Amino acid sequence: MKNNIKKVACIGSGLIGQGWATLFAAKGYEIIMQDLSEDILKSAVEQVALNLNFMEDNGRLQLGEAATAYKRIRATTDLAEAVKGADYIQESVPDDYPSKRKVFKEMDALVPCDTILASSSSGLLMSEIQKVATRPERCVMAHPFLPVHLLPLVEIVGGEQTASETVDLTYNLMAKLGKTPVRLKKEVSGYIVNRLQAAILREAVDLVASGVASAEEVDRAFCSGMGLRDPFIGPILRAHLAGNGIEDFLENYADSYRLRWESMATWHTVSPSMREIFVKNVNEMSIVRKHSLEKIKNWRDKMLVEILKLDRSCR
Ligand SMILES: NC(=O)c1ccc[n+]([C@@H]2O[C@H](COP(=O)([O-])OP(=O)(O)OC[C@H]3O[C@@H](n4cnc5c(N)ncnc54)[C@H](O)[C@@H]3O)[C@@H](O)[C@H]2O)c1
Repeated sequence: MKNNIKKVACIGSGLIGQGWATLFAAKGYEIIMQDLSEDILKSAVEQVALNLNFMEDNGRLQLGEAATAYKRIRATTDLAEAVKGADYIQESVPDDYPSKRKVFKEMDALVPCDTILASSSSGLLMSEIQKVATRPERCVMAHPFLPVHLLPLVEIVGGEQTASETVDLTYNLMAKLGKTPVRLKKEVSGYIVNRLQAAILREAVDLVASGVASAEEVDRAFCSGMGLRDPFIGPILRAHLAGNGIEDFLENYADSYRLRWESMATWHTVSPSMREIFVKNVNEMSIVRKHSLEKIKNWRDKMLVEILKLDRSCR
């Protein structure tokens, strides 16, 4: 596998592909973006330019670096052209096995055996995708978070046939990019964060749909409570601090947590009636009524930039 990664291909140029292209270009890598049509690529490249300008305007790049980074970007609809000479390929096509397998099969046939093939999937298993590859050992999951060019986390996990060298090289590449890579010991659907997000989202939908609180109140409660600690304290350290250490917490809070867990939602699909109530509630949120999605995303990114300025280590 290649240690000295210089040229990167981003396959799929939607929200995530654009974010990866922004980040790689900002960090000095030659980037080629690929997607199904010229129109998609045109708007993707425009979004990358906006992302780079945002990074420069908000102190994430030095003056003039956005323009230099932009020059590193090329785009093509031709997969063979995109992957030619690439040392590392980051796939970001839709999140279903048929789409992933199709692209992995094609990439696998086109590139030399030492090119790493990474997937951005939000929760699929690499073991199920790499079955179509003749060189499954170089296939790995590298799951980013939106916005990819700002949020540091990348979850890295191999499938049953992935070589540990592939996981190590991907981990090192992500660290070099300034990301915070987290390596899973084994595959699980949704990896770490999307499992946690799924648990919280189910409970949030349930609280709203069952009339406990409005969407506005659930989000306000989250952001003014656990959300404020979240940037530097995870759920496990939180439990350790909530009692007099984790053993004390597990003993003293056992009953109250049992009652909560017993009464919590366990459904797997949002029913039509819940969906109706939930969507209505979200559309009634004051921020959603007042501002466009674009405006809210821009505000989110500005807030993230401010949080990222904090030294979040405990000294
Ligand atoms: N959106 C998120 O919050 C998020 C976060 C982390 C990871 N992801 C993962 O990243 C991947 C992409 O998600 P997204 O939000 O960017 O989706 P998206 O729908 O915005 O973009 C997908 C892109 O892939 C293109 N595409 C489809 N088939 C293709 C093919 N055969 N070859 C090349 N391009 C093809 C589409 O035209 C589209 O531009 C998914 O696996 C998703 O789970 C998404």
